[in-house]
Amino acid sequence: MSAIVVSLATSISSFLVPSASSFSSSSSLFFSKFRSAPVLRFSFAVAPLCCRRGGGAAGKLMAHSLARATLGLTQPANVDVPKISFSAKDVDVVEWKGDILAVGVTEKDMAKDESTKFENSLLKKLDAHLGGLLSEASSEEDFAGKASQSIVLRLPGLGSKRVGLVGLGQSASTTLAFRNLGEAIAAIAKSAHASDVAIVLASSESIPNESKLNTASAIASGTVLGIYEDNRYKSESKKPVLKSVDILGLGTGPEIEKRLKYAEDVSSAVIFGRELVNSPANVLTPVVLAEEASKIASTYSDVISATILNAEQCKELKMGSYLGVAAASANPPHFIHLCYKPPSGPVKAKLALVGKGLTFDSGGYNIKTGPGCSIELMKFDMGGSAAVLGAAKAIGQIKPRGVEVHFIVAACENMISGTGMRPGDIVTASNGKTIEVNNTDAEGRLTLADALVYACNQGVEKIVDLATLTGACVVALGPSIAGVFTPSDDLANEVFTAAEVSGEKLWRMPLEESYWESMKSGVADMVNTGGRQGGAITAALFLKQFVDEKVQWMHIDLAGPVWNEKKRSATGFGISTLVEWVLRNSS
Ligand code: BES
Ligand code: MN
Ligand code: ZN
Repeated sequence: MSAIVVSLATSISSFLVPSASSFSSSSSLFFSKFRSAPVLRFSFAVAPLCCRRGGGAAGKLMAHSLARATLGLTQPANVDVPKISFSAKDVDVVEWKGDILAVGVTEKDMAKDESTKFENSLLKKLDAHLGGLLSEASSEEDFAGKASQSIVLRLPGLGSKRVGLVGLGQSASTTLAFRNLGEAIAAIAKSAHASDVAIVLASSESIPNESKLNTASAIASGTVLGIYEDNRYKSESKKPVLKSVDILGLGTGPEIEKRLKYAEDVSSAVIFGRELVNSPANVLTPVVLAEEASKIASTYSDVISATILNAEQCKELKMGSYLGVAAASANPPHFIHLCYKPPSGPVKAKLALVGKGLTFDSGGYNIKTGPGCSIELMKFDMGGSAAVLGAAKAIGQIKPRGVEVHFIVAACENMISGTGMRPGDIVTASNGKTIEVNNTDAEGRLTLADALVYACNQGVEKIVDLATLTGACVVALGPSIAGVFTPSDDLANEVFTAAEVSGEKLWRMPLEESYWESMKSGVADMVNTGGRQGGAITAALFLKQFVDEKVQWMHIDLAGPVWNEKKRSATGFGISTLVEWVLRNSS
């Protein structure tokens, strides 16, 4: 039996708030590059924030007297860390004791013989113990095993208080199907206020042995992520009651234990990423994002070091393109660089993950107006950086061998003011290329330009960048698929294999060189936007100008999948694929 504890960490529930003085360029965070000894070079008056729950009067007083108040006086609550423990067990379904026994069933599993009895042996056994009520109820309620269908019955006759049937669709073989199963079971557990749940598949014997581990970990992460609700900004919230999940019939022992631990690490990172994106732009400013990155480095100081550059230091590196975007904001930019090195052994692969980190995108002078522009959602414009920092957290926890990983974010805000960039201005990037800014709302690529040049200077072989870059990509692929652009078929193969394991949806798009025509400027090396047609492609072609040809590079546009409109919440998209990809590059 393997018991794993998954914590729903609320990592940014207690932000450190910079003093007013830290908003001048000289007092920004700066961590030395020396490994395992991140040193806070500049004074950074920090005060742990009070929390509304369990904070106490002393905490509140401290927050008000020492900390610079956030605009609107909002602070995330320090929500308790709920824990779910997962165990892989070999227990008879009839004997298992707890609140809900949830059975994942495909449409095929629901087949019945002439006497309306289940053909599937597990369902048949349960039904026999329940006097045929399971088959009766499932036909009465039209439960046919379709994806997103479920029934829950409270019946005597089993060790479990309730039995639930949860539909998997025609046949379940993908990670996504099992992740969805976990999410559906989480929803059932929530509404039943269940604290102990067992999950079993009606046809687990038909799953090939090599897929069993992946199936168990997909179910576990689906359950954790389904239970999790980001209530940090609500004045009241219910605590989740689910404490333990037993996964039956998929094996037991150290191997499955290891996979469940991996699912735990990645799920915690996804929750961290979601919390970063859900945090509003008045709370999650560039300095707070940098502080969150620094916290990752101090938590995993044995393997991760942090370098945070302030505006002055970025100017020394000639990052004119990035600084142009940041110029209008009262919240100064912070360039984030985390470096992971394995605890021991040689490094065989050097990778970089670069994330767009616009803590808010107003559009600038080309302000976002009109219905559908989604300006009120533009706190999610740092979703790429959340994916990169989420991956850093998981990699720091997992500590893979043989691979060095650089996590890079040029964090800033795209605002409007007299100090800001005008449409028509020419900015100069750190590789010397000049850009005529014909649209201030195409700011992400301007920040990524300098971030990509910086990444290439780290001597990496492969770069993956992630960005909520274009509305055009959302028009092309809709809300749940990210666009992938890369000249490298090898890198495409690597990342698509990783995405298959993680269950995230990616689609490769063309880097059509002839479209570069529209990006030509009369006065500079290029413009930053080339019109409406093929907007996601021209954006990717723009990024390509800032990547060394000898580096394998991929751009992922996650403008669609960063956000779940139905749940009104961030998804944490990208993190599980990135972690899987880094591990596949480890040795
Ligand atoms: N952050 C936006 C992209 C975006 C738009 C993401 C909608 C999610 C939903 C980006 O900075 C942007 O504004 N892009 C412009 C580019 C245009 C000016 C060429 C866009 O997509 O409209
Ligand atoms: Mn924009
Ligand atoms: Zn943007």
